[in-house]
Amino acid sequence: MENQDLQIQELEKTIRILRKKLERSEKERSQIEAHMEAKEFLLKQVIAKLQESQQTLEQRSHDLEIALADLNAMQVQLIQSEKMSALGNTVAGIAHEINNPIGFIYGNLRYLTEHTQNLLKLLNLYERNFPEAPAEICLEREAIDIKFIEEDLPKIVQSMQVGSQRIRDIVLALRNFARLDEVGYKSVDINEGIENTLMVLQPKLANIQVIKQYGELPLVKCAAGDLNQVFMNIFLNAIDAIAQKNTNLTTQDFAGEISIRTQLRSDRQVAIEIADNGVGIPTKVMNKVFDTFFTTKVVGKGTGLGLAIARQIVAEKHGGNIEVDSQLGQGTTFTIQLPIDSQSMKCQELPRF
Ligand SMILES: Nc1ncnc2c1ncn2[C@@H]1O[C@H](COP(=O)(O)OP(=O)(O)OP(=O)(O)O)[C@@H](O)[C@H]1O
Ligand SMILES: [Mg+2]
Repeated sequence: MENQDLQIQELEKTIRILRKKLERSEKERSQIEAHMEAKEFLLKQVIAKLQESQQTLEQRSHDLEIALADLNAMQVQLIQSEKMSALGNTVAGIAHEINNPIGFIYGNLRYLTEHTQNLLKLLNLYERNFPEAPAEICLEREAIDIKFIEEDLPKIVQSMQVGSQRIRDIVLALRNFARLDEVGYKSVDINEGIENTLMVLQPKLANIQVIKQYGELPLVKCAAGDLNQVFMNIFLNAIDAIAQKNTNLTTQDFAGEISIRTQLRSDRQVAIEIADNGVGIPTKVMNKVFDTFFTTKVVGKGTGLGLAIARQIVAEKHGGNIEVDSQLGQGTTFTIQLPIDSQSMKCQELPRF
């Protein structure tokens, strides 16, 4: 009996101990729980802060992207205006220098023609009235072949007239091309702009056949000097592509060709198509050709700006559109569409410098 009591006492003691342990661990558990809650709260706060800063970061990088694009556009515009004004200045300077002397030649040719005709008439009169000329004159007449001179002299004067008229046309085209005196939007003949640009590029087109199909176009309100720059960049690329094909081909029977077509589209737009039969553009880079600084040319030959500038002038300055189509090895076609009155279109003005 006594033994049983002892066992019960022992058990009760163990139960007490266990209860205390339980109480302690309950306390610890609630402490841990409170601690965990505090930690969770902190963690949530950290996550919220992180999300917030991520958003700020995204906004910042978006702002940066915009700033970078603006900077790129400004850089292109700056280079373009530098390039253009340097070229314009040179062209206008040369045109001015040639204009004066050719003016003398052209102005005097009329008198030269008149004097030549008078002298030949007088010579004929002499011959008719004095058929028996002294021996010295007869000898000299034969030596200089007077008959030939009589026939040739008018032809010489005539070809000098044609030549100097041509120089005057070139000077006029150069002046029109530079168009330094004209700022802003003017109504111009696009076909004439293309002709003037071709005139400036004449030396580079010596071995290339240029096929022209000019449509009847109304005057187009545009920044003429800038548009000439667009045509110039496209022609220069076509000339390069033809030269490239010439070096790639081993056979000699390739003839470079540039075709120009202009037409009026029904939706008050003019379309200008410039096609070449040069190397063509690989499909995988076709959507890159208008990118700033994209070039496949060797360092020093290409800066990769020509078409970026062209796109900017056509699309942003004139509210038009420029597209490319190409078959590798066959050739490339650029199509420009311009509204007849770009100012009535909603188009973005480029930053001014
Ligand atoms: N008619 C074309 N035929 C073949 N490739 C062309 C033609 N036009 C443009 N390209 C390709 O597009 C690229 C970009 O042309 P873009 O005129 O912008 O620069 P670029 O000619 O290389 O240099 P830049 O014009 O500044 O001197 C060229 O390097 C070339 O690879
Ligand atoms: Mg180019």
